[in-house]
Amino acid sequence: MKRIGILTGGGDAPGLNAVIRAAVKTAHGVYGCQVFGVRDGFDGLLEDDGVFELTTEHVRGILPRGGTILGTANRGNPFARKMVVDGEETIVDVSDEVAERTTELGLDALIVVGGDGTLRISNELFQKGCPVVGVPNTIDNDLQGTEVTFGFDTALNTATDALDRLHTTAEAHHRVMVLELMGRDAGFITLHAGVAGGADVILIPEIAFSFEKVCEKIKQRAGVGRHFSIVAVSEGAHPIGGDQVFSRAGDELFVARLGGIGQVVGKFISQVCGMETRVTVLGHLQRGGTPTAFDRWLATRFGSAAVRLAAEGGLGRMVALREGNIIDIPLDEAISTPKRVDLEGDGILTARGLGICLGD
Ligand code: F6P
Repeated sequence: MKRIGILTGGGDAPGLNAVIRAAVKTAHGVYGCQVFGVRDGFDGLLEDDGVFELTTEHVRGILPRGGTILGTANRGNPFARKMVVDGEETIVDVSDEVAERTTELGLDALIVVGGDGTLRISNELFQKGCPVVGVPNTIDNDLQGTEVTFGFDTALNTATDALDRLHTTAEAHHRVMVLELMGRDAGFITLHAGVAGGADVILIPEIAFSFEKVCEKIKQRAGVGRHFSIVAVSEGAHPIGGDQVFSRAGDELFVARLGGIGQVVGKFISQVCGMETRVTVLGHLQRGGTPTAFDRWLATRFGSAAVRLAAEGGLGRMVALREGNIIDIPLDEAISTPKRVDLEGDGILTARGLGICLGD
């Protein structure tokens, strides 16, 4: 193995820089091979100055930094790229050019760090001959095949800290505080942070909720002198018989953007339960900041393992965490079905056991 490339695609997550650093150090130190960074996801493979050699100097001091030194793009799908042709905006498939560029660059492997969308694209590029090795990254933790993705732990800590902070005002003002959290169609951030942060109500996409059940819980607490409540609601949660709430519709380039369910829940609580209610949307604070020690540890192991996998010729595969060990699985398997909260699992049983209302 002489030359490997690395890119980060899709939404960023704390720990990306730790992956890049580990990959560069392992590639240089163990295999003596060159590493090339690709800027802004797959887009960099189509730009003249989109690829550059990564040196030890580039990765010095980046371990505790959030974001990615390579940049990323979540509209950078080479199978559907927005371009201006004859003065008109149009969607073009440039996947062949991307595959050809990896050949021109003489890459023995291209490490792609991303979530489900990016890994899906990577798998399609692999079918076209691109020497892809995948690394799973998302705060949502919704990727099958790995027990956990890096970025999730940092997001969880941020969300739990937010719930702790909301508790104090809720109690002082006898209010209901609603916190809307990220996670798309998976409720991991909300369930884990809700339990860790002592929420009274946790609403996740996997369980359609009843407004009445939510109010019942809040009123029952008030009835025993607890005149405040904390509601953790996932951006993808929806009421029984109702739809998810979106802040922006999707199109050929962007997936629809979830957002707004917190306000809907808050309005109902204030109008129907008659409790003073405030809504906070934590948003991208969950994706930012320095990665936790766990995320740095996992991301570093993933970065190093991805280089070893590339050296062994494990193309079309993804590194993953299983039973505490780093393994590798086919990309096909990683993206086949999305991971969701197990409704029979101990997380849900724990929440129910604590008397937390899950809206059902
Ligand atoms: O997938 C990560 C994530 O942060 C989701 O939790 C959220 O729905 C989405 O990305 C937000 O995407 P964007 O940064 O494009 O608004």
